[in-house]
Amino acid sequence: MAVVRVHSSIQSSLCILSHPLYSTSRNLKTRLHFPRPLFSSPSFSSGRALFCSCRADNFKGSEREVSDSFVLTTPLYYVNAPPHMGSAYTTIAADAIARFQRLLGKKVIFITGTDEHGEKIATAAATCGSSPSEHCDVISQAYKTLWQDLDIAYDKFIRTTNPKHEAIVKEFYSRVLANGDIYRADYEGLYCINCEEYKDEKELLENNCCPMHLKPCVLRKEDNYFFALSKYQKLLEETLTQNPDFVQPSFRLNEVQSWIKSGLRDFSISRASVDWGIPVPNDNKQTIYVWFDALLGYISALSEDNEQPNLQSAVSSGWPASLHLIGKDILRFHAVYWPAMLLSAGLSLPKTVFGHGFLTKDGMKMGKSLGNTLEPNDLVQRFGSDAVRYFFLREVEFGNDGDYSEDRFINTVNAHLANTIGNLLNRTLGLLKKNCQSTLAVDSTLAAEGNAFKDTVDKLVEKAKFQYENLSLSSACEAVLEIGNAGNLYIDERAPWSLFKQGAAASEAAAKDLVIILEAMRIIAIALSPVTPRLCLRIYEQLGYTKEQFNATTWSETEWGGLKSGQVMAQPKPVFARIEIEAEGGDGGEAAKKVGKKKEKIPHTQGVAQA
Ligand code: MSP
Repeated sequence: MAVVRVHSSIQSSLCILSHPLYSTSRNLKTRLHFPRPLFSSPSFSSGRALFCSCRADNFKGSEREVSDSFVLTTPLYYVNAPPHMGSAYTTIAADAIARFQRLLGKKVIFITGTDEHGEKIATAAATCGSSPSEHCDVISQAYKTLWQDLDIAYDKFIRTTNPKHEAIVKEFYSRVLANGDIYRADYEGLYCINCEEYKDEKELLENNCCPMHLKPCVLRKEDNYFFALSKYQKLLEETLTQNPDFVQPSFRLNEVQSWIKSGLRDFSISRASVDWGIPVPNDNKQTIYVWFDALLGYISALSEDNEQPNLQSAVSSGWPASLHLIGKDILRFHAVYWPAMLLSAGLSLPKTVFGHGFLTKDGMKMGKSLGNTLEPNDLVQRFGSDAVRYFFLREVEFGNDGDYSEDRFINTVNAHLANTIGNLLNRTLGLLKKNCQSTLAVDSTLAAEGNAFKDTVDKLVEKAKFQYENLSLSSACEAVLEIGNAGNLYIDERAPWSLFKQGAAASEAAAKDLVIILEAMRIIAIALSPVTPRLCLRIYEQLGYTKEQFNATTWSETEWGGLKSGQVMAQPKPVFARIEIEAEGGDGGEAAKKVGKKKEKIPHTQGVAQA
């Protein structure tokens, strides 16, 4: 069992015991000894250290409470190995949410980055025969390249080795120290290097194996600095009761509440045995624990490059975040440790922490440590970024786990993007070219007068908006696809190709039908653009708009009535190539299949819809 053996600092202990929020003093007393010298930090020995600044006594005045801004973050990814599909998943979801919020007219700051310190990274660098900093440069760049290939339009990319980040971490540490929440103690426990976390023996499998990484934890004994998490137990309980939306999906809230209820233990926030990290202020024999360091990336990312890095200015550039998107494995750090750290430093809490599920292979979390990953570069190269983005957002209900299968990938993408959307557009434009010189005969508003199809589209757009707002990304995709399904049904029932043959009034009705379908396509192009930006740009261009017009669209333009009489459509070209399974060799069996995009020329527009 991991045990905190010796606490020190009478002042920090007094602070803990005297704090009105401290409700577990009985437990603490059993663990406290006072064998060490006191901290010498001047602020620490001031009376102020006896109070927890859980309220706004400092920066909150400079924090922005601007409702038109939306700050969202992905985790900062470890650079022990290049990105895999699991890491890409969070970032794709974050990008879709960021694009949706931009469509709503919000001033979005989308933060991502890399977590570059700690034992795991140092070991990975040594294994490759590189210095830690060379190794970090290479892997961090691999993340940036993948984000570009996946059309991730982030606003800030923070590396935890960036000097401005280091300055902010040190300042934050000093604030928490000054608040009396840091003390020194010996620690002995079982450590999982892959999680970078001490574990409780009872959570481990046979041979002290970590249940996530299936590797044995190592026994560690160290003299460390501790953060007085236990002080914040009551306040965290109250915060969660008063703000149940803080943790989402709602079923994860219970999990967090039960961790807190079962008793919070102080955790060590420095390492004596790790050189590759930010030195502890006033004690360069220790480095700051990688999580205490990395979480601050969400704030340091906000600091502007041209200004002196400090907490106050970073905070005033956008804190608190609206949304932290994370995987469920790092929920405790974000929903328990991080809020307590922020409370200690007198900063506001983020509005929501959303813990999504895992992409799995054979039921096991896909990951670098288990080596059962899926290569996102390979998927993007073979199928294009839209297909990858769409499949994972549509097929995995955001919040739950989802297993990958190539057959399902191909079937979904072909059915939804190539058939339902791509074919509908293509055949409608073909008919328009043949019968109307590719020109719209009437305004879409006039074309749809008294037509129930328009009402269906209106309802589905509202539904999609609601689902995006609730982060139900799969349901949002589904609602947009339903517009495509309704469009296909409409065109099949109306059969404009026959109406055109009848001439006169029937021909006019057919021309209106085409306008109606194309208006629905215009709406789809906006409503699905958070998920498949390249495809949606191509649709928009086929409808006779420019890339600039596409980049300037807003969600309000999903309202029926955008297409006007006289607008000329582009020449019909397929907007999404089907993925074909070609049999290789003679037997054509499953094992022999070869998969690729059909050889149709799809323009690859660069720099789609950058923020
Ligand atoms: N460095 C920390 C995060 C610090 S944030 C201040 C970390 N890095 S990680 O690279 O190991 O994981 C980053 C994210 O990727 C986590 O949210 C994790 O849940 C997610 N995923 C890693 N593998 C995953 C799957 N197989 N499926 C879905 N997401 C997964 O933790």
